[in-house]
Amino acid sequence: MSDANAARRGAGTRILVTGGAGFIGSAYVRDVLGRADGTRITVLDKLTYAGNRSNLAAVEGDHEQSPRLRFVQGDIAEPGIVGPLVADVDAVVNFAAESHVDRSILDPEAFLRTGVIGVHVLLEAVRAASLARMARGEAPVRYLQVSTDEVYGSVAEGRSSEADRLDPRSPYSAAKAAGELLVQSYVVTHGIDAVVTRGSNTYGPFHHPEKLIPLFVTNAIDDLELPMYGDGLQERDWLFVSDHAGAIDHVLRHGASGETYNVPGSAEMTNRDVIAALLAHLGKPWSLVRTVPDRPGHDRRYALDGTKLAALGWRNRTSFADGLAATIDWFRANEPWWRAAKSGDWDAYYERQYGSRLAAGQAALRPGSSPGAGSAPGAAPAIARDPAG
Ligand code: NAD
Ligand code: TYD
Repeated sequence: MSDANAARRGAGTRILVTGGAGFIGSAYVRDVLGRADGTRITVLDKLTYAGNRSNLAAVEGDHEQSPRLRFVQGDIAEPGIVGPLVADVDAVVNFAAESHVDRSILDPEAFLRTGVIGVHVLLEAVRAASLARMARGEAPVRYLQVSTDEVYGSVAEGRSSEADRLDPRSPYSAAKAAGELLVQSYVVTHGIDAVVTRGSNTYGPFHHPEKLIPLFVTNAIDDLELPMYGDGLQERDWLFVSDHAGAIDHVLRHGASGETYNVPGSAEMTNRDVIAALLAHLGKPWSLVRTVPDRPGHDRRYALDGTKLAALGWRNRTSFADGLAATIDWFRANEPWWRAAKSGDWDAYYERQYGSRLAAGQAALRPGSSPGAGSAPGAAPAIARDPAG
């Protein structure tokens, strides 16, 4: 399909989904192909430690959907791979990124290569393919950059609006902000057709177990300690993965070129309250939680104003209670998936990120108890231990 509004209409569109074997990207691919409207998708994914081809198994095992999916393993920073793929589609949705703040503190280089050079390579390919299409009287390629609320930095009060200044404070969010700015520069300078989404903290099935919710769910299943950074009063707005994927698809179809759209979640909560909720659902004790030394530069609060996306006609469908229950049920039912993700280099990563933190950790104040009570330093715990009950 290559007529004027193909990307906006959806049916029959050809889409290049970069990073489509990751957490949110694979949800997007499963949801779009599951619509069975003739959309064809090429996934380009490097399959880093966070990418997993089995995240697409449901699609690849479906006789109606699998002919509409092509998988290419490769790097978005390689023009020779990207150019021919972009030349063959109506739209590009870029999920590819190194996505974990803690790893950006340990090893920032890959964040810049994928988040800045990779985005630039995609934009150059979109520019070239759009020129060729327009010379044939066709619509340009539509590009969607999946960005994050973290580009706003920590928000003391109120909620971030799209026009607010960017204030990234981690190598991860700085790379994401740089990628976005490149996109805007290509809209202004080269007239490409592009939109940006800034999603909030996302959770759900297939979430790599290095992030807060899947790490704490899987550790708690194994009765391992839960390393809560600092006082645990940091706030995030939690967005269920299918709502995030749906919002991205909505902006791809209906967003105005050059515009950015916040994608807020459905639950502004402190980390302590999130942890308490998941422990309650699992029937595990609060005593698993350890207060550990904080993340450097830890953003205290993210909060998004979703007025612009609502005006475009999008509403989230999933409450935090329902999303958390579905997520925990999925992790309980899919142990081989997350145990595989916690194998290989996992132990080395875990020791580097948490070894000394857990050694310095303390029993964590229970939610609702007053500061000063119950936070006395405990004996240095082992990384894995039996629950204290
Ligand atoms: P993820 O780490 O689960 O997936 C990233 C995917 O990109 C992986 O499959 C990985 O193999 C692939 N990838 C990495 N570098 C690549 C490269 N150079 N070339 C090709 N593929 C590459 O991340 P996620 O949580 O699914 O996030 C997807 C996007 O959404 C990212 O851009 C992230 O910044 C953004 N985002 C995430 C959240 C969140 O809470 N997870 C919130 C807002 C925005
Ligand atoms: P994370 O899932 O890494 O997302 P982000 O840093 O992008 O918001 O972390 C969510 C919150 O949970 C954040 O405030 C950091 C905190 N956190 C912990 O307290 N302990 C952990 O082990 C992790 C991974 C996160």
